[in-house]
Amino acid sequence: KWDLLTTSQLSATEIQEIILSASEFAGGKIWQPKERLFISNLFYEPSTRTKSSFEVAERKLGLEVIPFEVQTSSVLKGETLYDTVKTLEAIGTDAVVIRHSADNYFSELEKGISIPIINAGDGKGHHPTQSLLDLMTIQQEFGSFTDLTVTIIGDILHSRVARSNADALLRLGAKVVFSWPEDWVNHNQLPAGCCYMSVDEAIELADVVMLLRVQHERHDGKLLFDKNEYHKSYGLTLEREKLMKKGSIILHPAPVNRGVEIADELVESQKSRIFKQMENGVYIRMAVLKRALENRNGGMEYVDAN
Ligand code: CP
Repeated sequence: KWDLLTTSQLSATEIQEIILSASEFAGGKIWQPKERLFISNLFYEPSTRTKSSFEVAERKLGLEVIPFEVQTSSVLKGETLYDTVKTLEAIGTDAVVIRHSADNYFSELEKGISIPIINAGDGKGHHPTQSLLDLMTIQQEFGSFTDLTVTIIGDILHSRVARSNADALLRLGAKVVFSWPEDWVNHNQLPAGCCYMSVDEAIELADVVMLLRVQHERHDGKLLFDKNEYHKSYGLTLEREKLMKKGSIILHPAPVNRGVEIADELVESQKSRIFKQMENGVYIRMAVLKRALENRNGGMEYVDAN
């Protein structure tokens, strides 16, 4: 079964294969299954980019998208995630894309579900397609990952994006530096192989500065937070941007809080690749869906127009 649940289940070679496939889609490659295939996007948490770009990717691949909204589904009558996915499988859905607030929600689907599951974000756990689109954007810019320094700044502990990216970047040969508000994270919670630096130092060294949104929804209401103070102490301010190396770039998974983790003027600045990341997200999701579907049941017929 060709699920995509975490980046760690992909070898470095498989990551490169997905990026190559996405680049081919970006260059105009057409791949569409010959038979009708149905797909459903189950978003138990809010999303703009991931949900919409999966849907664009699915339509570009000629897949039939089965509308599913948690708020008008039998989830509201207490139906479990497992029974919801089992039902969609029973009525003929060929793959599901799921975002859920529970870390590792997919562990309860491992037994009993045969169709591919693509993880669109699990709680604080993983966001593999976000990481893949970030990697594609970095590779487009620098050609490879070897000896690049990627600085990730912000709410690391609650970030599935940071976790997925740290795993993949280290295996691809990049150095990963973290910076965060000192009182939010204990240093022994740092992922293996990553180091901590002060914000200014980390920005000066970086080829890629990746900013993270403060995940208010995962702080259990305990976060004491002043937006202006955060911006001054940990944000990419106009002054800090001047510390960045020539040729370095800015990434952010978005949604962006302008004026908090990044100055408003920098969101669409010359160094920013934030909207390029979103564009690449469609191609990465096409590649991930193709990988899941073409390998399903040991292969299928498809139209390859190239
Ligand atoms: N980057 C990201 O996952 O954005 P959404 O929450 O809007 O999908």
